[in-house]
Amino acid sequence: MINLAIFASGSGSNFDAIVHAIEKGELDANVSLLVCDRVGAPVIEKAQRYEVDTVVFTPKVYNGKAAYEEALLADCRDREIDYIILAGYMRLIGPTLLKPYENRIINIHPSLLPAFPGKDAIGQAVSKQVKITGVTVHFIDDGMDTGPIIDQEAVRIEDTDTEEDVKRKIQAVEHELYPKVIQSLLVKEDAK
Ligand code: GAR
Repeated sequence: MINLAIFASGSGSNFDAIVHAIEKGELDANVSLLVCDRVGAPVIEKAQRYEVDTVVFTPKVYNGKAAYEEALLADCRDREIDYIILAGYMRLIGPTLLKPYENRIINIHPSLLPAFPGKDAIGQAVSKQVKITGVTVHFIDDGMDTGPIIDQEAVRIEDTDTEEDVKRKIQAVEHELYPKVIQSLLVKEDAK
């Protein structure tokens, strides 16, 4: 069985979607670890509800990114993690994790990359008054939302949509797309 670690910083709706896909038999994997960089983030409670091992860390108590990523790497190795799934993890991954997990760290981003990388992608799209935005799932590299794209899905922004409306539409797409993309990667890996 493939072991996933989910890295998240926030509400954890994508964490929930991945766990539900596993429960429904649509995703053939285990969520073996949640890593969260924000004490009190709602995703932590979700992981506890599903009895998923959880590591919560405070980056600023470490002596730099390499130091906390060393600790996270050990946590992933202890649990034989195969893939790291970023689900609203609002930090760049450094070489300490990237090298050992090359092509095994994937991210979901709420825009059609390369448009609107970085923070507040939905707010950026709404303020630019684009009519089509969407969701991207991609491998990560050492840039900000720049790695090879695995899949994308478009979302239409109507003139009457508020930012909240767009967020709701984007998240509905994310919750379907992310588990499917992860499953398709696992199937490809199996066929190798
Ligand atoms: C998601 O919309 C995800 O695409 C976004 O954070 C949200 C997390 O929601 N990620 C980024 O913006 C990464 N640059 P969640 O905590 O409810 O899953």
